[in-house]
Amino acid sequence: MTTSAHLRTVLADALTEDGTLTDPAWRDAAEAVPRELFLGSYFAQVPGSAPTRYLPVHQGEDGWLEAIYTDRTLITQLDGRARPGDVTNGSLTGDPTSSSTLPSLVLRMWQQLEVEAGHRVLEVGTGTGYSTALGAHRLGDDRLTSVEYDPVVGRAAAAALKAAGYAPRLIVGDGLRGDPDAGAGAGTYDRLIATCSVRYVPMAWLHQVKPGGKILVTLSGWSYASGLALLTVTGPGTATGRLLPGFTSFMIARPHDRPPRTTLALLPGEERPSRIDPAVIGTWTGGWVAQLAAPAAERMGAGAEQILWDVSTGSQVRTTLGPDGGWTVLQRGPVRLWDRVETAIRLWQAAGEPHQEGFGITVSAARQRVWIGAEDGPGWDLPV
Ligand SMILES: C[S@@+](CC[C@H](N)C(=O)[O-])C[C@H]1O[C@@H](n2cnc3c(N)ncnc32)[C@H](O)[C@@H]1O
Repeated sequence: MTTSAHLRTVLADALTEDGTLTDPAWRDAAEAVPRELFLGSYFAQVPGSAPTRYLPVHQGEDGWLEAIYTDRTLITQLDGRARPGDVTNGSLTGDPTSSSTLPSLVLRMWQQLEVEAGHRVLEVGTGTGYSTALGAHRLGDDRLTSVEYDPVVGRAAAAALKAAGYAPRLIVGDGLRGDPDAGAGAGTYDRLIATCSVRYVPMAWLHQVKPGGKILVTLSGWSYASGLALLTVTGPGTATGRLLPGFTSFMIARPHDRPPRTTLALLPGEERPSRIDPAVIGTWTGGWVAQLAAPAAERMGAGAEQILWDVSTGSQVRTTLGPDGGWTVLQRGPVRLWDRVETAIRLWQAAGEPHQEGFGITVSAARQRVWIGAEDGPGWDLPV
C-alpha cells in the first residue's frame, strides 16, 4: 500500500470511529480520492502570528503529505489573487478566498444531502475540486455539475480532477445563478450543495432544484455568524427547512461579501444601560441571532466590549461595562441596531437559547424568514 493510500485509510478509520462516516459508499469515496492531487501546494498558518501570516507549503516539502491527511481545512488562495505557487519568498497576510475544506465536513455534508444513486447534483464552490471528486466517485461524472466563481481556481480544479481520473461537468461563473444552462421550468437538479456560504438563498436555486429536491447551504453574513440549513424545495421558487446540528462555517460567496468600508471611526452617540450582557453576541448562537436582527452590520470586539457597524447606513453601536456593574450601550445613526439586537436576543433567551438546530427557514419569492422552533415562532427576514 502506498503511503497516500495508507494515510487515506487511517483518516477514513478515524472518521468512521468518531461517527462522521456512516455510509459505506462515502467511506469508499474517502478511501479512493487522493487529496494530495488537489493540494500540490497550500498555505500553512504561521503559529502565533497576528494578523495571521501564511507560509506556502509545496509538494515534497517536510510534512506536506501528512498535513493533507489530517482533518484540516487547507487554504489555497488569499484575497482572490495570491496562490501558494506564486509566493517566492517568505510569508504573507490576507483573507482566505479558496481552500480545500476539512474532509470530515465535506463528507458529513455529502451524507446530510441525502443523495442517492441516479440523482443529478449541482455543487456551488468547486474550490480545489476535492469535494467534487468525492461526489463524482460516488455518483458518476455524468450526474455532477460543479460551479466555481474564480477562473484561476476553476482551471486548477479542472486539472486536478483530470489527474485524479474524474470528469464531472465544470462551470466557471457565479454559482448564485446556478447552472446557466438549466433553463427555466420544472427544475433540473435533485440536489444542490454549496461549499461557500450565502446571506440568503438565491432564487435561481429554487427554480433549478426540482420540487421535493434538497438544498444544503450555510447561511452567513457580515458578522461572520453561520448556520447550516437543509431545505426541501416545495414548488418553483419556494422551500422550507431546518438548520442542522454542529458548528459549520464557510467563506462567503463572493457576490454576497461585505462591501469595502472605510477605517472604523467611533463617533459620539446616545448612551443608555444595556438590557442584555453584550458578551452574548460573541457566542456561536448569540452572534447568529444578532446577525439575523442586524444583517447589514459587521461585528467587532470581544466580551462586554462589542462594536457593531451597519455597512449600509453607517449606524454604530458600542457596548462597555457600566461603572457600577451592568453594561452601557452607545448608539448612533438612523438604525438603532442595539434595540433590534436586544429584542432578538431576549426572544431567543425566552425560547430557551436553542443552538442553530432549533431554527428553521421558509423561503418564497416574497421573503425569506428564519424562525425559532416553528414557522409561526419568532423570526427575522433575511436581507434578500
Ligand atoms: C471553501 S472553498 C470550496 C471548497 C471545495 N469544495 C473543496 O473541497 O476544495 C469555497 C469556494 O467557493 C468559491 N466561490 C465563492 N463564491 C462563489 C460563487 N458565487 N459561485 C461559485 N463559487 C464561488 C470560492 O472561489 C472558493 O473556491
